[in-house]
Amino acid sequence: MWEMKHILGLRQMSRNEMEDIFRETYLMRELFRSRQKSSLLAGLVVVNAFFENSTRTRISFEIAAKRLGADVVNFGAAGSSLAKGESLEDTVLNLEALGADALVLRHSSPDSADTVSRMLRVPVLNGGAGSEEHPSQALLDIFTMRDRLGDLSGKKVVIVGDIAHSRVAKSNLYGLQKLGAEVVFCGPEKLLPREYELLGARVEYDLPRALCGAHAVMALRIQFERQSATYIDDLNEYRNGYQINGEKLRFARPDAMVMHPGPINRDVEIASETADSRQSVILEQVENGVAIRMSLLKLVLHDRRGVLSCRTAV
Ligand code: NCD
Repeated sequence: MWEMKHILGLRQMSRNEMEDIFRETYLMRELFRSRQKSSLLAGLVVVNAFFENSTRTRISFEIAAKRLGADVVNFGAAGSSLAKGESLEDTVLNLEALGADALVLRHSSPDSADTVSRMLRVPVLNGGAGSEEHPSQALLDIFTMRDRLGDLSGKKVVIVGDIAHSRVAKSNLYGLQKLGAEVVFCGPEKLLPREYELLGARVEYDLPRALCGAHAVMALRIQFERQSATYIDDLNEYRNGYQINGEKLRFARPDAMVMHPGPINRDVEIASETADSRQSVILEQVENGVAIRMSLLKLVLHDRRGVLSCRTAV
């Protein structure tokens, strides 16, 4: 029986919980690929509250919820009462009063999902919180790695780029560590403080050395909206040092998987031909993302202890 009410981050998720999600995701991927619709969540309303830009995550949650029969309402800061000065707290309380059965939240504040989860009675799924956590993204990344590489224990995963501002890097680190993988962070010093070693990552400033023997290589976008560009003196220098391209990939295993959470800035953090190469699993990540989100929604809205008894009592 699934116990966890909210999906806030991988820091507090156990290995067993991740394994439960991955087992469910294989079933959900079959359902997704069959293009069939289930009625498991029929009558429930999932609200996507995205206060930062998003393409993949928002649409992925929307398609996932719809495939399971739920109704979806999309809500963003532009055009809402937030623009009139309403607080995040008041906004989400109103969304719950309007009948949301679950809230998917993306917000620039690192503790947004935690704060909102303490205020609402319905499940909150973190769709990206500041530079802190992005659990559904890391789960889809890790699922994609496991699907290809099998047991991740002892496997080397190198995450390259703007680590300091990346919620994807942190959530991946927390999750991958629990599965026994070796995680190497690589990037320029200004975007990768040495302190990340305290979280258990290996910190490496030299890309060829970092890539040596890598099973998976994940490129990260420079988070321009978090002022990351101010830490980079020269974009060409960044490209020379840290762009994932055919030349650099020669240092990794020949079959290393090339990953990226998107959105891609082609020919900045990843060479265009590398993003489209046979080694790239970028679109596979996107497909797996829908299946991951289907299983997260099913687990918190359908399988969770207490949910069914509440619903039949109504
Ligand atoms: C990431 C995010 O928003 O944190 N994208 C995503 O959700 N697929 C990474 C990014 O924006 O660079």
